[in-house]
Amino acid sequence: MENPVLDCLLNHRSIRRFTADPIDRETLGVITHAGTRAATAGNLQGYSLVVVDDQKTLEDWLPLKAAAAVIALVDTYRMKRWFELCDAPFHFDKPSSFLISFWDAIIALHNTVIAAESIGLGAVYIGGVISEDMGETIGAPEYTFPAGLVLLGHPDQNPPLRPRLPDEAVVHYDRYHVPTDDEVRAWYADIDRTFDEKSDEKRAALRAKGIHNRAQQITLGRYNEAIHSEMSTGIVDNLRKAGFTGFSG
Ligand SMILES: Cc1cc2nc3c(=O)[nH]c(=O)nc-3n(C[C@H](O)[C@H](O)[C@H](O)COP(=O)(O)O)c2cc1C
Repeated sequence: MENPVLDCLLNHRSIRRFTADPIDRETLGVITHAGTRAATAGNLQGYSLVVVDDQKTLEDWLPLKAAAAVIALVDTYRMKRWFELCDAPFHFDKPSSFLISFWDAIIALHNTVIAAESIGLGAVYIGGVISEDMGETIGAPEYTFPAGLVLLGHPDQNPPLRPRLPDEAVVHYDRYHVPTDDEVRAWYADIDRTFDEKSDEKRAALRAKGIHNRAQQITLGRYNEAIHSEMSTGIVDNLRKAGFTGFSG
């Protein structure tokens, strides 16, 4: 089965090096418009897409050089303003609205990414945005929350496709299949091997830190508990400052 949409999806690679060429506002408009055509709960569009293409703002703020960033905000502020004008009650500050709007925001952002990739642009998500204060950076008001951020630009690299787990590990039919230990070992075997394939020097350096396999490299290294705690503090702060309530019962 072949078609251009499938080709685009099956060839996705995150792009982290871009040329210095800008993306014109017309193109940014086309791809974000594609984002807004995504399904949205209740057709309420509980999100905003904030496009940042001012190079000074991007350079001050982001780790990579890119032509533009698109920030997808959970946004029930705009509908609050509308409800106020119409004397309609606002109760879209609760986990139900927050999570549905989070879903909306990410679907719209990913539609934008696919539209960008379909016309030859490159993109990479930057996960740390969910714990950052968007009030200062982009003037985001209450009842907004940074759900996701993607950097866009003209690719200056052509990385290989990164491997994925076998579909049988991820895709379940009819009921969730709880795997045996052997299945889990087999599914992660290729990833486990990446540790054994490191140079002796690199492995020795990791072992000195108490890291003896790829899983430990993940949970004790880049995604360790302290990093999770720090990010979680930022997320909870963002929720509180935005006025979303009811997450702890
Ligand atoms: C929610 C999310 C957050 C991510 N955050 C980052 C990030 O902060 N920095 C980065 O370089 N890549 C980030 N990525 C890209 C992933 O590292 C990348 O998708 C993964 O390694 C698979 O590679 P591929 O996209 O080329 O297939 C993120 C991806 C997602 C979906």
